[in-house]
Amino acid sequence: MVQLKKITLVLASVLPQWVYGAGLHASAVAKGKLYFGSATDNGELTDAAYLAQLSNTDDFGQITPGNAQKVSEANFPGFWRKTDCIQWDSIEPTQGTFSYTKGDVIADLAAKNGQKLRCHTLVWHSQLPNWVSSGTWTNETLIAAMKNHITNVVTHYKGKCYAWDVVNEALNEDGTYRTNIFYQTIGEAYLPIAFATAAAADPDVKLYYNDYNIESSGSKSTGAQQIIKLVQQYGAKIDGVGLQAHLIVGSTPSQSAQATNLAAFAALGVDIAYTELDIRMTLPSTAALLAQQSTDYKNTVAACVANTKCVGVTIWDYTDKYSWVPSVFSGQGAALPWDENLAKKPAYDGILSALGGTASAGTTTTAATVVTTTTTASSGTTTGVALYGQCGGSGWTGGTTCASGSCKVFNQWYSQCL
Ligand SMILES: *[C@@H]1O[C@H](CO)[C@@H](O)[C@H](O)[C@H]1NC(C)=O
Repeated sequence: MVQLKKITLVLASVLPQWVYGAGLHASAVAKGKLYFGSATDNGELTDAAYLAQLSNTDDFGQITPGNAQKVSEANFPGFWRKTDCIQWDSIEPTQGTFSYTKGDVIADLAAKNGQKLRCHTLVWHSQLPNWVSSGTWTNETLIAAMKNHITNVVTHYKGKCYAWDVVNEALNEDGTYRTNIFYQTIGEAYLPIAFATAAAADPDVKLYYNDYNIESSGSKSTGAQQIIKLVQQYGAKIDGVGLQAHLIVGSTPSQSAQATNLAAFAALGVDIAYTELDIRMTLPSTAALLAQQSTDYKNTVAACVANTKCVGVTIWDYTDKYSWVPSVFSGQGAALPWDENLAKKPAYDGILSALGGTASAGTTTTAATVVTTTTTASSGTTTGVALYGQCGGSGWTGGTTCASGSCKVFNQWYSQCL
């Protein structure tokens, strides 16, 4: 009987591999990574075909609530296609009143699927309720409100999150601190105070600083490294840096440029994660663009694979059907590895090959035959505020003209080139 039982167990653990083959998450784990994952949002979960693939743990071992832990649509109508978030203005819309309904749906889904949850985010200049962004604060009262928010939210999700993005997007493009209510009132101390507060509420969860345009060396990446040192010098815990990686087909940093950047973060002793990867193109999508996109995904994921401190990669949703890109970047899209019909694109095979897997049946493999084009850094020679940069808001003294996109007002403190 004992013998028989053993055989049954062995079969049970081996069979799923035979049945499903090695997808993105399975291949990432085989490479020593913790996960390959996807962001999601509440509104999409009623789409059965979407949900089935999101729950396919062969491809996704981790999910991030894109917005359920952050924004409310009311404050930013039409801005985020993903409308429900674990952000401050949906979780604590009035001071001291907490609502976790939407975030809990995604936390429960991750638990049911056995997927890790990256929790996003605690302190961010955007998607703040008016009582925070337009409140009358002293240093002490704002610290108290921030600590109360962090303590409540982290305690609520204690044991459910693998990691928290404690502070999101604290930097300008030149690596200086972004002017926001926290920085203006508390100064740079808001960063270490936020990390220390989160660590006190859940000593086991990994604590990350998360930002965009820090995927290759430069002023902003250096600024993020300074934030890590600041938190460390303060004696607070910081476990990792999240590179959002909202990248552009044909101007994604090369694998070696990304490797150099990852090494600089790893030298500070922190983990690294690619947290919001998508690689957008100017529509319409063509075979050449899809092939270049596959190469760009491959280079980015390969950079993570090659650095032992890089724990995993999360794409910012998996299908073009639910990408945030078209609603924010006019004329751009097709940024994800699955198309609007949930069919895999060449980008899927690009990722899989970076993870050491082999091309899946049913996907095209044109990427392999395409000539690599020289990539250039996305900043370069343009004048004006870079895409995503701050271009206005109360107290803002920097540029107000956008190099690309236009300057959109979010609230009195913050306008951004989009
Ligand atoms: C606010 O208080 C904190 C904690 O005491 C301190 O570290 C920080 O420097 C203060 N900020 C300002 C602007 O006084």
